[in-house]
Amino acid sequence: MKVWNKWSRKLHRWFAIPTLILVPISVVLKVSGNGQVMARIPQWEIAQSLLMLLLVITGGYLYLIPYISKWKRNKRRKQKGTNA
Ligand code: HEM
Repeated sequence: MKVWNKWSRKLHRWFAIPTLILVPISVVLKVSGNGQVMARIPQWEIAQSLLMLLLVITGGYLYLIPYISKWKRNKRRKQKGTNA
C-alpha cells in the first residue's frame, strides 16, 4: 500500500509538469484568437485530455489515501478489541 501511495504522488507530480505547460499555452492561444494553431496539431487536444485523465486518476487516489488509512486503522482497532 505504501508503494502505491508513494508512486501515485510521484506520478501525479510528473504528470503535472507537462499539464502546467500545455494548459496555459492553450488558454493564451484561444484567448488571443490563434486557436487554429492547435487545430493543426491533432495530438494537442489528445495529450491534454490524457494528462487530465491521468491527473484525475492519480489525484483521486491521493485524495482517498487519508480515508483508506482511517478505515484500515479503525478495522485494525476493532479486531484488536475483539481479541482482547
Ligand atoms: C484533476 C483532478 C485533480 C485531483 C483530484 C487532484 C488531487 C490532488 C490531491 C488529493 C493531492 C494531495 C494533496 C495532499 O498532499 O494531501 C494533490 C497534490 C498535488 N497536485 Fe493534484 N489534483 C488534480 C489535478 C492537478 C493538476 C491539474 C495539477 C497541476 C497541473 C496538480 C498538481 C499537484 C501537485 C504538484 C501536487 C503535490 C504532489 C506532491 O505532494 O508531490 N493536480 N492533488
